[in-house]
Amino acid sequence: MPIHWFPGHMNSTRQAIKDRVKAGLDVVIELLDARLPGSSSNPLLASLTTGRPSLKVLNKQDLADPAQTEAWLAYYNAQPHTRAIPLDAGEKTPARALVKACRELAPGRGDMHKPLRVLICGIPNVGKSTLINTLVGKKAAKTGDEPGITKVEQKIVLENGFYLFDTPGMLWPRISIEQSGYHLAASGAIGRNAFDEAEVALELIATLKRRYADRLQQRFGLAELGEDDAVLEAIGVKRGAKIRGGAVQLHKAAEALLMDFRGGQLGRITLETPDEMAAWRRAAAEAEERKAAQREADKAAEKAKRSGRRQDSGGEA
Ligand code: G4P
Repeated sequence: MPIHWFPGHMNSTRQAIKDRVKAGLDVVIELLDARLPGSSSNPLLASLTTGRPSLKVLNKQDLADPAQTEAWLAYYNAQPHTRAIPLDAGEKTPARALVKACRELAPGRGDMHKPLRVLICGIPNVGKSTLINTLVGKKAAKTGDEPGITKVEQKIVLENGFYLFDTPGMLWPRISIEQSGYHLAASGAIGRNAFDEAEVALELIATLKRRYADRLQQRFGLAELGEDDAVLEAIGVKRGAKIRGGAVQLHKAAEALLMDFRGGQLGRITLETPDEMAAWRRAAAEAEERKAAQREADKAAEKAKRSGRRQDSGGEA
């Protein structure tokens, strides 16, 4: 069953982004999870900040497959008014790379008269707080945090004439593609109660079998990989997730696999390629078009039925 997750209270974030655009915005930084650089991107951000250059930061690159990170960087760097850089929490001076890329995107700005105004956004768990803490903890000055006002935009001065704005609230992921839902759930970006762990684990197993089968075998000591559900059971057996009577608790097996994936114990893994993502987006758009056409056809049929009934009752009178 596809994952649906609508946590609501997105309106305040939407408004905060709109306010920043109105107040002045030169570059948008979107933090992405390098293990799922397509699924962790939120189209809402692009639609709210149209026309502004975009810096895609592929964060947690230490957990992602380096070859795939290269492919995703090339994909984003080929898009107009867009730059992409890899990053992870191990980087001691992240400001340097961020400032350089933003200056390239907005060459006319960045001094005291025309400061470079940059907005940073990202879906939950992508590492935004960690990055901001590193930025603030080092040489950056933090302002705008007025006592008693919690819903305030945070302004970080990265260097003279360079302002980084962090909006209050969360940019929740939008799940319009089934595979993206599974990848977001596997990465830990969406609430635990919104999905079935065993289902997400089975999807993860299918992906790992396609590209990282050896890692799966090594990590769990599996001599061979059978059907996906047999693999999940085997993981459960290896991790002692059996109950009395011998049955395997699949949710425990799923938890073990998801924990290992999130923590990088399976090695550096990327769940999706730019080509796959493009194909999923096309399929989702086509499905949406078919649904819209069906809705129109249903509406027309209903209208015809009603007008037929009116004619019938008019004839009887
Ligand atoms: P958020 O504000 O975007 O929601 O994310 P946050 O910074 O809270 O980071 C979410 C989790 O991701 C944290 O782990 C954090 O340590 C981890 N993380 C952030 N950046 C990186 C990175 O570049 N590489 C790796 N490997 N991990 C990163 P946690 O287990 O939830 O918390 P903690 O136990 O580390 O405190």
